[in-house]
Amino acid sequence: MPAISASAPGKIILLGEHAVVYARRAIAIPVSQVQARTVITPLVRQPAGYIQVQAVNLQLDAPLAELPADDPIRQAVELTLGALNVQRAPAMHIRIHSSIPIAAGLGSGAAVSVAVIRAVSTYLGKPLPVEDVSALAYEVEKTYHGTPSGIDNTVIAYHQPVLFQKGQPIQPFSPGGKFTFLIADTGISAATREQVSGVRERWQADPAAYESLFDRIDALSGQAFQSLQAGDTEMTGRWMTENHHLLQQMGVSCSQLDELVNAALEHGALGAKLSGAGGGGNMIALVSDEHARSVEDALRSHGARQVIQTGLE
Ligand code: PMV
Repeated sequence: MPAISASAPGKIILLGEHAVVYARRAIAIPVSQVQARTVITPLVRQPAGYIQVQAVNLQLDAPLAELPADDPIRQAVELTLGALNVQRAPAMHIRIHSSIPIAAGLGSGAAVSVAVIRAVSTYLGKPLPVEDVSALAYEVEKTYHGTPSGIDNTVIAYHQPVLFQKGQPIQPFSPGGKFTFLIADTGISAATREQVSGVRERWQADPAAYESLFDRIDALSGQAFQSLQAGDTEMTGRWMTENHHLLQQMGVSCSQLDELVNAALEHGALGAKLSGAGGGGNMIALVSDEHARSVEDALRSHGARQVIQTGLE
């Protein structure tokens, strides 16, 4: 059997994180500048059923059977074998490498799952359709994050900009013009699970206030969906910044995220907000070509560890 490889991109959420967990609309786009990649090669000297996993970024190199039962890579492999009804796969070596920062709101967990599910199913000669890849990655996300909305696995598996709402058919869309985003990392790692459960506690303590915040975010996602398709960068930026203010009120921003958002806006960004679960991780800024450089410099001088440029055309 020849070696097989599969890749999956990172992602950013343009609007609607957290509210999306409560069945409101959100918009996410893939980020191809960072990738998770899985390469599978046959192990000719090992018996059928033997699987070795090497996750380069995690310094992990172990037989699959020795990983904890809730390990996300083990789950991705076993769920794929289960979906394909394969009891004993030919012996294989699974190598995973990712350039997506971990615990930074860029979807590294979902991207690794998608790349593994794709590679394993292709290696077994039964490549799964995108909806099955996304559904299996969602199962892995559940153990990882508790109550995921499903937006990460969807945008990453489909590799397209999407308007996402839990329980609704996904709406891929094409932007009506060029949009350039800078993604700046605070360098603070924040677990999605904790941010999501913090919002849940505050929502339980004051449901009326949080329902209203979720509704306002939902409306912003709806408006941004229109402005993105119309190619209207100014309005899209405005909705993003308004979304950041609502996320601040939800208690998921932090001083470093706010500082980067303010620095971006002061240096000409059309809009800026935290992206993903918050508490650290990344923020995003929508920039014109004219201001891209000055905003990037401002982000770096205000503490951004890494700045990635991505876009939609
Ligand atoms: O994985 P992150 O950090 O991009 O967060 C995902 C976005 C949330 O809305 C906070 C959680 C979810 O499941 O949608």
